[in-house]
Amino acid sequence: MKKIKKPEELRSYRWTGPDDLRSFGHRSRLNQMGYSAADYKGRPVIGVINTWSDLNPCHMHLRERSAEVKRGVWQSGGFPVEIPALSITETFMKPSPLLYRNLLSMEVEEILRSQPIDGAVLLGGCDKTTPGLLMGAFSVDLPTIYLPTGPMLRGNWKGEVLGSGSDAWKYWAEKKAGNLSDQEWCDIESGIARSPGHCMTMGTASTMTSMVDALGLMPTGASSIPAVDSNHARLATDCGRLIVEMVWADLPPSRMLTRESFENAITTDMAIGGSTNAILHLLAMAGRAGIQLDLTDFDRISRKTPVLANIRPSGEYLMEDFFYAGGLKGLMGQIRDLLHLDCLTVSGRSLGEAIKDAPVHNEKVIRALKDPRATEGGTAVLRGNLAPDGAVIKPVAAEKRLLKHTGRAVVFSDYRDLKERIDDPDLVVDEDSVLVLQNAGPRGAPGMPEWGMLPIPQKLLRKGVRDMVRISDCRMSGTSYGTCVLHVAPESSIGGPLALVRTGDLIDLDVDRRSLNVRLSSDEIKRRCETWKPRESPYERGYVSLFLKHVTQANEGCDFDFLRGRGGVPEPDIF
Ligand code: FES
Repeated sequence: MKKIKKPEELRSYRWTGPDDLRSFGHRSRLNQMGYSAADYKGRPVIGVINTWSDLNPCHMHLRERSAEVKRGVWQSGGFPVEIPALSITETFMKPSPLLYRNLLSMEVEEILRSQPIDGAVLLGGCDKTTPGLLMGAFSVDLPTIYLPTGPMLRGNWKGEVLGSGSDAWKYWAEKKAGNLSDQEWCDIESGIARSPGHCMTMGTASTMTSMVDALGLMPTGASSIPAVDSNHARLATDCGRLIVEMVWADLPPSRMLTRESFENAITTDMAIGGSTNAILHLLAMAGRAGIQLDLTDFDRISRKTPVLANIRPSGEYLMEDFFYAGGLKGLMGQIRDLLHLDCLTVSGRSLGEAIKDAPVHNEKVIRALKDPRATEGGTAVLRGNLAPDGAVIKPVAAEKRLLKHTGRAVVFSDYRDLKERIDDPDLVVDEDSVLVLQNAGPRGAPGMPEWGMLPIPQKLLRKGVRDMVRISDCRMSGTSYGTCVLHVAPESSIGGPLALVRTGDLIDLDVDRRSLNVRLSSDEIKRRCETWKPRESPYERGYVSLFLKHVTQANEGCDFDFLRGRGGVPEPDIF
């Protein structure tokens, strides 16, 4: 990369360069930490933003990776500074980690802007950390590389391969159906997560790191490297070396992010059969980059993009297999004709150069273009009188027979109601019913939890039923599957039509036609609307009350209304 910046043009120079009282203070405090001018003078300061935490199993190797990034920064003549940031742990944060994505983004934005930092390496991977870290970085627009945590190794149970999430849902259903013993369930618990790294199915974590890879914000193909592979440690050091070059070459995200690069991310999302959560996060990330995307972009690209990755939950294999088969680089090589190849990557090369001649080693895992898993339909966008602003479904993860379906609604007014009644032997429900969950959206839950794969009632599980049409305004885990209509907008807790559905109403789903409707006359909808009342919120203070006031709906990415768009905040004065 061509060096175009001089040391005195570095942003950090404003803190450490001038001969004045403030800079004296900054330099004396660096001395206090044991650094001398030789360590930092004229060197780019690189923020290594680390989301390691004792409560985040997906990030438990990030302290070592951070040291490896720093090694690369030193080697290239930079000055690394490690800074912790909120670790959004998918497993433990309640009611929903999505609630905290925007908080992380605000934290990263302020960390980078308020301090003498010239470039950043962001360390994350567990679902919401990827969009959260990058949304903040896009808002500040300093040179940035994303170091993904990498997927964990395959799970194992008696020699059988287990996938994160997907196999937990599968075997839980078998246990409820009476087909699995307590001991077997216990053994699965010990074998499903065996190493550091994020979920190794094509869940939200793998999808989001793949999206960022396709956007060009990490060395191409890096998202597929397993967390414990020595390639991953070397990747960390490479990122450290590269970010220093990017600072000298003045390569911030705004020089890489374009409408075309986001279209590359969406195309890749469809070809990997990615998580429905990607839609939400890409909308929010594009918003921070000042790029206008909407749901129709996803549906348009979905219709022309074949699904090539054969990864669970929609396929058979796991991320470790994907890496051995050629990884994302190999997959993008297969769909190169659908990509905008001129888009720039962190290496300073175009995407086209980065994926040139990328091989595929196993066509069972990464299918050839002439033999796709599906010719289209990674994710589809539905509309109708039940979702005027849109809803999403992942057809490749659903039973085909249900993609055109009419059934009577069985309505649950919230998640507590669902938990209490779903397994009630007296619940009036059959395999043709449509399960509806209300008040689970961005404001309703709050934070739009991953409750969208509503459980199949136990009495139907015992009859062998494993999929039904389910509709909600929440999300589902990227590791989930089934005929689940998600992200219904506007959500029920603000009076969207989903709030008006009653048990017994007939609902029509037609994925081919992209429609979702309840068979009610407009007069009846109006009548029900007049008697609908919002629920009282128990959240009156703190961050959650800020979230409730400013979060946008699912079709807009659930970012805060005051954070969209690039720039607008001045550099801090240094007095
Ligand atoms: Fe961290 Fe799944 S729990 S990615």
